[in-house]
Amino acid sequence: MIRILHLSDPHFGAADPAVAARFLTRAAELAPDLTVLSGDLTMRARRRELIEARSFVERLPRPRLVIPGNHDIPAMNQPFQRLFSPFQRYREIFGAELEPIHTAPGLHVVGMNSSKAFGPSLDWSLGHLSPENLRRAHQRLSGAPGSFRVLVLHHPLIAPEGHKRDVVRPLPSLLELIASHRVDLILCGHFHCSHLAAIGPQNSWHGVVSQAATVCSTRLQGEPQGFHMIRADHDFIEIERYVFDGENFATDTSFHFARGAEGWGGADATTRREEARIA
Ligand SMILES: [Fe+2]
Ligand SMILES: [Fe+2]
Repeated sequence: MIRILHLSDPHFGAADPAVAARFLTRAAELAPDLTVLSGDLTMRARRRELIEARSFVERLPRPRLVIPGNHDIPAMNQPFQRLFSPFQRYREIFGAELEPIHTAPGLHVVGMNSSKAFGPSLDWSLGHLSPENLRRAHQRLSGAPGSFRVLVLHHPLIAPEGHKRDVVRPLPSLLELIASHRVDLILCGHFHCSHLAAIGPQNSWHGVVSQAATVCSTRLQGEPQGFHMIRADHDFIEIERYVFDGENFATDTSFHFARGAEGWGGADATTRREEARIA
């Protein structure tokens, strides 16, 4: 069984230190095989925010895979850095690789950088995958036959109901990538809303998407801070959603997915309330 702790969007510069401390305690208890942080480590990519984020990351269980988000690029009030060296500060603190990979027996994890300093839209918070991002991921996913395959990007694939914000572009190309390499799990963040579902091209392979809430920031979007704990084997994926209840992180729902001929299906969800009723 593979155990992955997925957190996102801590936003140092607007983080609640008490929530961050509670999370780190819970993360250590969970002792995952891999910890994935899917971007937006800071608010404005200021050096002090990045240093604060690094000290948080250094206390996460190892091994870890971290990618940047759109907030880890200097904002428009720093146009020179944004235009000419958007990831320079991030790279100085977190290393040069914006698309890290992690391999372990039976596990292959590929990071993709969907955050761009400028794009075709005036809304530069939107996620975009370039042909180079997609080509690189194609190449990197080709090399791990038989492994549980995971993609990590910052921007989401699914807009929850009633949510008007855009998903990552071009989504059809990303779904093709997922289907052609039979990707099992896709980890992302950005909306600060937890969402779990299987997704893929019509009549083709579906992977499970884990869109995590913000783990410890005060930038809430109608739900508390939270994270996902994922347990996966060849035929099943179980994702426990943890939410901050004002004092601690506790599980509120677990989601179950099963592997079929066309990939992963589900998600049957069991809430703690239902469990109590059944008992
Ligand atoms: Fe964010
Ligand atoms: Fe974001």
